[in-house]
Amino acid sequence: MTIDLDWANLGFAYRDLPYRYIAHFKNGEWEVGQLTSDNRLQISESSPALHYGQQGFEGLKAYRTKSGDIQLFRPDQNAERLQKTARRLRMAEVPTEMFIDAVKQVVKANEDYVPPYGTGATLYLRPLLIGVGDIIGVKPAQEYIFTVFAMPVGSYFKGGLAPSNFLVSRDYDRAAPHGTGAAKVGGNYAASLEPGQKAHAAGYSDVIYLDPATHTKIEEVGAANFFGISKDNEFVTPLSPSILPSITKYSLLQLAEERLGMKAIEGDVFVDQLDRFVEAGACGTAAVISPIGAIDDGDNHHVFYSETEVGPITRKLYDELVGIQFGDIPAPEGWIVKL
Ligand code: PLP
Ligand code: COI
Repeated sequence: MTIDLDWANLGFAYRDLPYRYIAHFKNGEWEVGQLTSDNRLQISESSPALHYGQQGFEGLKAYRTKSGDIQLFRPDQNAERLQKTARRLRMAEVPTEMFIDAVKQVVKANEDYVPPYGTGATLYLRPLLIGVGDIIGVKPAQEYIFTVFAMPVGSYFKGGLAPSNFLVSRDYDRAAPHGTGAAKVGGNYAASLEPGQKAHAAGYSDVIYLDPATHTKIEEVGAANFFGISKDNEFVTPLSPSILPSITKYSLLQLAEERLGMKAIEGDVFVDQLDRFVEAGACGTAAVISPIGAIDDGDNHHVFYSETEVGPITRKLYDELVGIQFGDIPAPEGWIVKL
């Protein structure tokens, strides 16, 4: 039985679902995790996650297929990225098996909230790893909490395939060279709040960050990676050590090449050479594929395909990716994990 919600208009909002998973790391090992109905965490006031940002998180989705089954998209990749984040911040690592088991438990326990097939909505899962305990010096925690909670969501940016506009940030960087840009840590998002709010207030969907060292190359969007489609049928996306390695982006690189016959390129995307692209978009778990209508950089208003219509290649990529995620199109080996 599915709960009765306005599935088509969920947006991207927190919802306190009946169950979440929680596990504690103490004395050098993970205790057995369990489901709980309590959405509050009780932690020491001195927890390193609170003071020094020793925390990391993930985002992935559960999809209801046409036949009513539920499936996950590449959860092993999220587990591995959280392990990389954990190593960068000297946190205890969550083994892949434990991560996927926790995600499955949460989806099963909240099955009624997995949106029906055809609504476009999904169940968004937020795994979170935090350093806790009584420590006040700047050093890694001895104890950790790993939790996974969930909520049904719709579009993150403007509805579905509607293009929207993005603003190049010249006054703010999201991450430093050799900083934590490639790790999924709260600090990167904290740095993006001020420029993000300013951009939203000016009517933009999000900020486009440039490489922090030279401010000449596009890095990524505040909450998604960037891609462009060139006149020569290339799928191009920035390669940088300070952007989040997007699982959606790597999936699209593969699909562009294998299924759409495009040339897939990770490389420099110079912000003064946007003319090479006939289409552009933002991609990520929450963003899915969000077409970029135009980018504003100072006085330069650069329109890609159109500010109102999605381009044909972006649409093809979207149909392929979303078709795989919802089980309508066969997936490359190992991408889909059934519940
Ligand atoms: N870049 C940032 C800053 C993000 O927050 C996200 C979201 O997870 C992405 C890119 C996209 O990554 P993924 O496709 O793995 O969700
Ligand atoms: C995601 O796409 O999962 C994200 O983490 C993006 C944003 C909501 C932080």
